[in-house]
Amino acid sequence: MTPFALPESAVAEVDRTIALYPERQAAMLPVLWTVQREAGWISPEAMVWVGERLGCSAAAVQAVVTFYTMFDERPVGRWKLQVCRTLSCELMGARAVIDRIRERLGIEPGETTEDGEFTLQEVECLASCGTAPMMQCNLKFYENLTPERIDALLDELRGSTPRPFDVEPVIYERPDLDGYRAMFPRTLERARTGGAEAEAK
Ligand code: FES
Repeated sequence: MTPFALPESAVAEVDRTIALYPERQAAMLPVLWTVQREAGWISPEAMVWVGERLGCSAAAVQAVVTFYTMFDERPVGRWKLQVCRTLSCELMGARAVIDRIRERLGIEPGETTEDGEFTLQEVECLASCGTAPMMQCNLKFYENLTPERIDALLDELRGSTPRPFDVEPVIYERPDLDGYRAMFPRTLERARTGGAEAEAK
C-alpha cells in the first residue's frame, strides 16, 4: 500500500481542525472534507492516514466514508451528478432523468465518462422532495428536472468550470404544478427562497 500524503498546508489544516474538538474522532467529517478536497477522493490509504490522525481504525473511517454520498471511494469526474432515486423523485420522473443522462453520456450509474468530465451516481433522498425530481451536481442542487433540462444542463456544464463553493440551487419552473401552488403558496415560496421571503410575510 502506497503511503498517503497531503500538502503541508492541508496537514496543518487537519491538525487545526482536530484541535477544535474535545475528542479527536469528532473531527472525522471536516477532516474527510479536507482529504476529499485535496485528493479528489478518499482512497484506502487515505482512510488509514485519517484513522491514524484520529486515533481510530481505517474500518471506522471507511464506515463514515461509505455512509455519506458526498465522499467518494474512487476518483470521480469534474462534474459528479447524483440523481435522487427515492420515492418522490421516482414518482416524478427520476427514471427518465437518469435514462437521459445514461444515453447522453454513455455511462451507467457508478461510472465516469472516459474524458473524466462526468460521473453518474444514484443516491437516496437529498431532502428536496417538494421539487422532485432533482439531482445534486457537485454541491449544487438542480430541481424540477426533466429530460429536456438535462440536455441543456449537460451542454452547459461541459463548457464550464466547477466553482468550489457553488451551492445556490437551481429550481426550474413547473407550470403543471399551478394547482398545487394555489393550495400551498407559502410552502412553495419557502422552497424557492430558502425561507426568507415566506417568513417575512
Ligand atoms: S425523494 Fe428525492 S429529494 Fe427526497
